[in-house]
Amino acid sequence: MLPTTILVLIALAVAPAYASKAADAKVAAAWYAGFHAEEGFPLSKVSWNKYNTLIYSFAETTPSVHSVTLNGSDGGLLPQFVEEAHKNGVKAHISIGGWTGGRWYSTNVGSAANRTAFVKTVTDFVTKYNLDGVNFDWEYPNNQGIGCNTINANDTANFLAYLQELRKTPVGANITLSAATAVAPFMDASGSPSSDVSGFAKVLDYVAIMNYDIWGSWSSAVGPNSPLDDSCAPAADQQGSAMSAVKAWTKAGIPANQIVLGVASYGHSFSVNATSAFGSSATKATKALVAYPAFNASNQPLGDKWDDTGSVDVCGVYEGPGGDWDLWGLVDGGFLDQQGNPAKGIYYRYDNCSQTPYVYNTTSEVMVSFDNTQSIKAKGAYVKQAGLLGWAFWEAGGDYNDILLDAIHSTSGF
Ligand SMILES: *[C@@H]1O[C@H](CO)[C@@H](O)[C@H](O)[C@H]1NC(C)=O
Ligand SMILES: *[C@@H]1O[C@H](CO)[C@@H](O)[C@H](O)[C@H]1NC(C)=O
Ligand SMILES: *[C@@H]1O[C@H](CO)[C@@H](O)[C@H](O)[C@H]1NC(C)=O
Ligand SMILES: *[C@@H]1O[C@H](CO)[C@@H](O)[C@H](O)[C@H]1NC(C)=O
Ligand SMILES: *[C@@H]1O[C@H](CO)[C@@H](O)[C@H](O)[C@H]1NC(C)=O
Ligand SMILES: *[C@@H]1O[C@H](CO)[C@@H](O)[C@H](O)[C@H]1NC(C)=O
Ligand SMILES: *[C@@H]1O[C@H](CO)[C@@H](O)[C@H](O)[C@H]1NC(C)=O
Ligand SMILES: *[C@@H]1O[C@H](CO)[C@@H](O)[C@H](O)[C@H]1NC(C)=O
Repeated sequence: MLPTTILVLIALAVAPAYASKAADAKVAAAWYAGFHAEEGFPLSKVSWNKYNTLIYSFAETTPSVHSVTLNGSDGGLLPQFVEEAHKNGVKAHISIGGWTGGRWYSTNVGSAANRTAFVKTVTDFVTKYNLDGVNFDWEYPNNQGIGCNTINANDTANFLAYLQELRKTPVGANITLSAATAVAPFMDASGSPSSDVSGFAKVLDYVAIMNYDIWGSWSSAVGPNSPLDDSCAPAADQQGSAMSAVKAWTKAGIPANQIVLGVASYGHSFSVNATSAFGSSATKATKALVAYPAFNASNQPLGDKWDDTGSVDVCGVYEGPGGDWDLWGLVDGGFLDQQGNPAKGIYYRYDNCSQTPYVYNTTSEVMVSFDNTQSIKAKGAYVKQAGLLGWAFWEAGGDYNDILLDAIHSTSGF
């Protein structure tokens, strides 16, 4: 029989993720969109050996605090996802919420009784599917996202109380808990970014800052989808960035080693005429793309084949095309060659402040702000230099031949 001390050591060695936090294991992650499994990105295409965490997306909140639903995300695949992940030594997490799926977070955590019920809903789900972690993607506490979320001034305080209660359960203590967040800290009761979110650092393993969709069709000009820095941009163009977000979250009490940088494998498109795209060089033989050109908001181009051509959203509001282009889509659509470089005849600009590539097709007059190896390498280097916990791609299926995944590995150091 083994002596007790050895048994204790063995128990410590097999201790779960949360207990091993002190080991400071880095996070190399991506969200896996279940709804793209049948659209070209089945589980068999996941490069499991290049991640240590994959996050199935999404389980959505429902009007009942007693359930979450996988209906929109090919939920039948979740058991296989967990099995494949574990076979490959990868942690399998579930993301609860998303842009459309976070509508009932506010009421789910809106009272003590609801928090207790929602703790049970989530822990039952974790146990049922044998998950290693939960990523709370509430877009956003006390900040209306899609337009028909339940919302309450106390959302952030209620969210914290909920996480504290969850963490006290045997299941909650045993798994990795994270939140996908905006670039600004959770809104306080007055609707401003909270000055102190340090309570969350005690109950969450990390926050994953979604540093994308910073500029898009809703913006005043063509700007970076996922800027690394914006302190070097003109004042009016400082709309958020990885660096300013990390600064804001650390100032509010989340240590850098509990921050994962959300990075993008897609970009946004804009309709830009040649006059706007090239400015004063438009009539010259040698044309160069200008920074922050105007675009025609009434003419949103369609993105790649994963883009929605336009439909009525969950709030009952008609939304036109999103205009998103995944990296593989930019290759398919003739903007990039197979190596991810600008294709012949495509105009290119690299903004060295935000670290953002732009491509422009003069025939279709479509300009896209996206991420390539250069910009992703810059982000990986920043993750390392700033001592962040890791990186996470939205989404695993957006890449092309692992061009971006390999690029971030090469500079993040893990
Ligand atoms: C999900 O789909 C099942 C089966 O079709 C249905 O019974 C259930 O009501 C759906 N749940 C939600 C929240 O839509
Ligand atoms: C508690 O949850 C139920 C739905 O299950 C909801 O109808 C109710 O409004 C919630 N209570 C609060 C205070 O948010
Ligand atoms: C927020 O919480 C405070 C203190 O518990 C309470 O008095 C207030 O009514 C709550 N506000 C809302 C909008 O629920
Ligand atoms: C804790 O996690 C381990 C490993 O995933 C699992 O075997 C065990 O059942 C979990 N315990 C609880 C209480 O969920
Ligand atoms: C080019 O686009 C700009 C901004 O959308 C617009 O103001 C201008 O009229 C357009 N020029 C032409 C020639 O269409
Ligand atoms: C913007 O696009 C709309 C729709 O295609 C078009 O009718 C309009 O003339 C365009 N505006 C400019 C300034 O080019
Ligand atoms: C640009 O767009 C046009 C029209 O959609 C397309 O025919 C062409 O192949 C694209 N690529 C280049 C390099 O012009
Ligand atoms: C960007 O490039 C310009 C011109 O090459 C240079 O002057 C500037 O210092 C660079 N800025 C950054 C942030 O690297």
